[in-house]
Amino acid sequence: MSGSKLNMNNLEDVRKSLNSRTLQVCVVGIGRIGLPTALSFAKSGLPTIGVDINENLVKTINSGKFPLKDEPGYEEIFNDVIKNKVFSATTKIEDAVPNSDLILLSLPTPMDENNIPDYSALRSAASKLSEVLSPNSLVIVESTIEPGFIEDEMVSIISKSGRLKIEENFFIGVCPENANPGEILHDFTNLPRLIAGINNDVTKIIKIIYNFVFPVELVEMPNCKTANAVKLTTNVFRDINIAFVSELSLMFEKLGIDTIKVLEAAKKKYNFQIHYPGSGVGGPCLPINSYQLLNTARRTGTKLSIIESGRKINEKMPDHTVELTSDAFKECNKSIQNSEILILGVSYKPNVKDIQLSPAEHIIKKFQNLGANVHVYDPNFSSSEVFGIRVEENLDDVLSKMDAVVIVTGHDDFKKIEISSFAKMKTPILIDTRGIIEPQSVKQYNIIFRGLGRGDF
Ligand SMILES: NC(=O)c1ccc[n+]([C@@H]2O[C@H](COP(=O)([O-])OP(=O)(O)OC[C@H]3O[C@@H](n4cnc5c(N)ncnc54)[C@H](O)[C@@H]3O)[C@@H](O)[C@H]2O)c1
Repeated sequence: MSGSKLNMNNLEDVRKSLNSRTLQVCVVGIGRIGLPTALSFAKSGLPTIGVDINENLVKTINSGKFPLKDEPGYEEIFNDVIKNKVFSATTKIEDAVPNSDLILLSLPTPMDENNIPDYSALRSAASKLSEVLSPNSLVIVESTIEPGFIEDEMVSIISKSGRLKIEENFFIGVCPENANPGEILHDFTNLPRLIAGINNDVTKIIKIIYNFVFPVELVEMPNCKTANAVKLTTNVFRDINIAFVSELSLMFEKLGIDTIKVLEAAKKKYNFQIHYPGSGVGGPCLPINSYQLLNTARRTGTKLSIIESGRKINEKMPDHTVELTSDAFKECNKSIQNSEILILGVSYKPNVKDIQLSPAEHIIKKFQNLGANVHVYDPNFSSSEVFGIRVEENLDDVLSKMDAVVIVTGHDDFKKIEISSFAKMKTPILIDTRGIIEPQSVKQYNIIFRGLGRGDF
């Protein structure tokens, strides 16, 4: 079916095509967020095709193997929609897009080594759309972008072939993704989402489409740039607040104050929102989102000094982790050089299998530069190689050979480790950067303990 048969600017036509399940969906970028998005559309009965440049991923999907094993709930949906042939994948955008009415872009928006946001995937997809998009289609950008990116860039790139004119024969909007890896199904069925179109009519159309697929509140924004500003504001709020408590924790350590006790008590106040200090902020969102807003500030000749400072603090916390460890080594008159250090957790956050921009990488490198032999234990990566190190399979097997254990990620599994098992280490140095060990609990075991932000105890 050609996209030109359905006018995505006609609310009644769209409604009918949803009800008859004839509206054709194409999701470009079927990674961590795009694949669950595509599966949600397919599950609602809409014929959906996923496009990705990753040939292996496309092959895996088309051979019926679900690639996101750590995303609860989606494997069943995947098996169902593959069996019912409502979903398939391709590497060929030029085949998938012309036959689609709705094109969702869930492409990566990373940053380069100078922390400059990289929108090349979106720009290249938009370029392709300018050649192959059928007239009267609707494009929705789900990727995280800077305010103004739709209005200033996407529209002109898609229009450049001269075939398509915005608001006349092609339409665009946004619905920024806000799901957390590891709980995407939960988030897609519970968290409100922001929507905005290039005009109010398009916003209404996006609303009925998303209402059809996602049983959540859809918050209508006045325009695309405001929706993207909200998305970035919410994440940067977290980045800044983590920096705030991390900086405080550095001072509280010196004062002998336990930051966790401060925060737990502070949250009794009705308008305090708790954030925790730690060994750094990673992942595909928070650090990048701060740099996206800093990029917007540069473009607009503005200064966002709080975000700038926050980033500096968060980027300093991995070094502080190494300092705490060095201090513990000094206490027992041992050198880090040639020592055996075990990193507990390499994911950027608890309970997910994701090492993007994880502070663990910097911490590992620092220890290696100091001459330590670094080992890694993380149940999500058992036996695979991460940051050039083969991840241990069994914690008990390795503990007795270690001089120090450094908890970098607060996985739930680590909360269950018996404190007494750390006492069996060659040198019982335990560094907790995520506040999961109660300092009092180590006392009876003669463990040399440092808790990030925990002060003396
Ligand atoms: N992962 C998260 O936690 C999260 C949460 C909210 C928002 N986001 C945002 O969602 C967007 C997508 O993130 P993700 O985590 O799903 O990324 P991802 O890297 O997991 O997936 C992106 C996919 O796009 C594919 N791709 C890259 N260039 C392509 C191209 N030109 N054409 C077709 N496919 C291409 C990649 O092969 C990959 O499979 C980003 O803007 C990100 O900031 C991510």
